Amino acid sequence: MRVAAISVLLTLAVLATSCATAEDAADEPAAATQEAAEEPDADEPDSATQPALEVDPADAEPAAEVDITGFSFEPEVVEVDVGDTVRWTNGDGTRHTVTAGADAEPTDAFHLTFADRGDSAALTFTEPGEYRYFCTPHPFMEGTVMVSG
Ligand code: CO
Repeated sequence: MRVAAISVLLTLAVLATSCATAEDAADEPAAATQEAAEEPDADEPDSATQPALEVDPADAEPAAEVDITGFSFEPEVVEVDVGDTVRWTNGDGTRHTVTAGADAEPTDAFHLTFADRGDSAALTFTEPGEYRYFCTPHPFMEGTVMVSG
């Protein structure tokens, strides 16, 4: 009788151990899921990888101003230093964009939209370079921002 009782106790002990193990295993995926959920934040682009950052045109103290007028960018070329801000203002009653790229091929460096006359937008350039841009609806409209380091 005593042997049987010990056997039962051992079985219970083994069951308890395997239950605890199963519980531990169940905890792990939850922790892994939480970690995975936090990962996208770390992957978000930071300012170091974007050569031009959109800033509030009202707060900007631009080093250069570009008028969008008569289906052209005036002046067509502006020269600024790294850290400077360029502000564009739409003088036409037509929707225009300032889209990074050349020959009607956009890049992901920047894309500004001007829906109405008087709309303005501004970019602060964080990397030196020659940034050609165009207007998506009117690819013949082209401009360049030269940024010196
Ligand atoms: Co246009």
